[in-house]
Amino acid sequence: MQNGFFFLLLLQPMKKILVIYYTQTGQLHKAVKSTLAPLEKDDSVSISYLHIKPATPYPYPWSYMEFFDIFPETVQGTSIELEPFSIDTKEEYDLIILAYQPWFLSICVPINSFLLTKEAEELLKNKNVITIIACRNMWLGSQEKAKVHLKRLKANLVGNVTFVDKAGNLTSIITVLAFVLKGVKENFLGIFPKYGVSDKDLDEAYKFGDVISKHLKSGDYASQQTELNKLGAINIKSNLLMMEGRGRALFPLYARYITKKGGRGSKERRTRVRIFGIALPTAILLMSPFIAILSRLVPLILRKKFKKEIEYYSQNTLK
Ligand SMILES: Cc1cc2nc3c(=O)[nH]c(=O)nc-3n(C[C@H](O)[C@H](O)[C@H](O)COP(=O)(O)O)c2cc1C
Repeated sequence: MQNGFFFLLLLQPMKKILVIYYTQTGQLHKAVKSTLAPLEKDDSVSISYLHIKPATPYPYPWSYMEFFDIFPETVQGTSIELEPFSIDTKEEYDLIILAYQPWFLSICVPINSFLLTKEAEELLKNKNVITIIACRNMWLGSQEKAKVHLKRLKANLVGNVTFVDKAGNLTSIITVLAFVLKGVKENFLGIFPKYGVSDKDLDEAYKFGDVISKHLKSGDYASQQTELNKLGAINIKSNLLMMEGRGRALFPLYARYITKKGGRGSKERRTRVRIFGIALPTAILLMSPFIAILSRLVPLILRKKFKKEIEYYSQNTLK
């Protein structure tokens, strides 16, 4: 009986997963661990972790100025120096999990910087990749940028699992700012809910891991995203789709306007950064009620267009 078990193990070669991730306050790490729990317990799967770290860590909590000052370079995809990697890039992985947060509707700087390295080229070429995102609620633009990088790196994006804060958009813009600028996660001002992905969503994330495990073993990922979507891996709301669309059109323009005055940290651009830091939350607060009404009306009129857009962002090819 025991011999039979070992024989079966020999027949099924070990599947190797590499998780490449960045997390500042730990939310994304929790989401990854919860998702991969079934695979962590599986003796026929080995999982290695590569924690990407900036050579100079970002502050937490962020000061107001530091937070908004990284906006232009984040949107423009400028890379920073990273801590050296401790990984053999010649190792052949069956699956790569790329786990990142969006920052200002773009890929967070550490992961974007990693994607521009030669190690990323070596590790990701011809590999199957699943992205895991844990954020406030706006990840569509950053995922489009991830798709562009992965295409350039000749990787195959075969899945996307997202975790978001399910509070209303107005509520979560206040709680995320309290979280990143003040370090307050729970009960801000005694009235706001906890910022971030709910414990329930994290507790149930193993269901995505079960699907990933099945496809990893068969090597056929064709129906994986559809199965993940049925379990709630992607949930796109029309008001957020509309707001992100505005932001993605305007952010590169304002980023250029700021960088014309100087690079990250320069005194000359402080006024423009400060204006952005006031204008962005104000615009979100003022626009949200209108967008909430519009997002209920417009999809009724432009039903086909919205349906098509939601379908597009729920799959993994690039337009
Ligand atoms: C500089 C910065 C910009 C952010 N921009 C976005 C964003 O555009 N969309 C979004 O959904 N969340 C955004 N967030 C929230 C993060 O995605 C994430 O929830 C938070 O950083 C906690 O992640 P961690 O615990 O894994 O570090 C931003 C956070 C930071 C620090």
